[in-house]
Amino acid sequence: MSRKLGLTALSAVAALTLAACGGEGAGSNNNTEDAAPEDLSIGVSMPTQTSERWIADGNAVKEQLEAKGYEVDLQYAGDDIPTQTQQIDQMITQGADALIIAAIDGTALGSQLQAAADEGIPVISYDRLIRDSENVDFYVSFDNFKVGVAQGNALLTGLGLPTEDNPEGTATGPFNIELFAGSLDDNNAFFFFDGAMSVLQPLIDDGTLVVKSGQTEIEQVATLRWQQETAQRRMEDLLTSTYNDGSRVDGVLSPYDGLSRGIITALSNNGYGPTIDSGAQPMPIVTGQDAEIASVKLIADGVQSSTIFKDTRLLAEQAVIAAEAFLEGEEPEANNTEDYDNGVKVVPSYLLDIVTVFADDIQAELVDTGYWTAEEVEAGQAE
Ligand code: BGC
Repeated sequence: MSRKLGLTALSAVAALTLAACGGEGAGSNNNTEDAAPEDLSIGVSMPTQTSERWIADGNAVKEQLEAKGYEVDLQYAGDDIPTQTQQIDQMITQGADALIIAAIDGTALGSQLQAAADEGIPVISYDRLIRDSENVDFYVSFDNFKVGVAQGNALLTGLGLPTEDNPEGTATGPFNIELFAGSLDDNNAFFFFDGAMSVLQPLIDDGTLVVKSGQTEIEQVATLRWQQETAQRRMEDLLTSTYNDGSRVDGVLSPYDGLSRGIITALSNNGYGPTIDSGAQPMPIVTGQDAEIASVKLIADGVQSSTIFKDTRLLAEQAVIAAEAFLEGEEPEANNTEDYDNGVKVVPSYLLDIVTVFADDIQAELVDTGYWTAEEVEAGQAE
């Protein structure tokens, strides 16, 4: 008994010391170690339901946490920053013991994270790095630079150019391409674009690839909030401004399936397609990301060329492992402690691998792994 009291007193001192060090060491004044999962609640804040990947992420995190007995408060913010800040504020006032957050704007959550730190609530940044705050305890994501490299390589492979993965490529170009990037308030957008440009820039420099619009800076090619309609409009504008002289677009770097579908709509409205193999004016090679079901069908049908598959079930699993570690008073294991500087500190990260999917890979990577059923691919929608 006295030993236990002694330990409690000791951990109280440790907690105070940690708290005095400015919130370092998540869970510091929030004693969760001895609590049963049933008595702990975890707030899960997701950006939007307009993209099915975030629905899959939210569901997977919730299911996996509930399977371990935790209470879960899952909220979607409709891509609206004030809604997300308000939802997180509410999670904190309602006594969340840990937070898992996929930010809309990675720089907009400073005061929420400060409030969480003041309460000793550990914060796990989910897929998108939360920036400009010391109160981010852990980051779970995919290797986002590698995603960009894979997108660049998929564009080259689609065009028939040789790459390390596809040395059989025999095309020589030159090819006209256009570039799209994601939302500038999402840290990932820079990793994707930089990764892709690490592959494409040398070929732009030697003339194999021609960005006919001249728009090669991320600020010129970004898409606020990753919106499909915005990408469609920009592609339409490019076709009118740059390709009205009889020239054609051969390839489009797109970082996300939703954007790819907007781009493809603009292209088909302007006489391209319907498929990559159609005769007179074939659909350009368009890349993507997320293996969204509507795009997987477009890939199966030969309309979109590729996507990058990121298994959200595995990401959810890592978020759950990290939350559990913090709640048990431990530090989760990181596999990257270098690359994700959020402007204030390098956030310890766990990064997962990614897979490039062309039509031939759908069965093995997406159906056999149980991510989508063959029927869903056929129908182009989730059941
Ligand atoms: C995610 C991508 C997703 C994009 C748009 C990024 O932060 O990493 O998987 O395509 O947001 O939702």
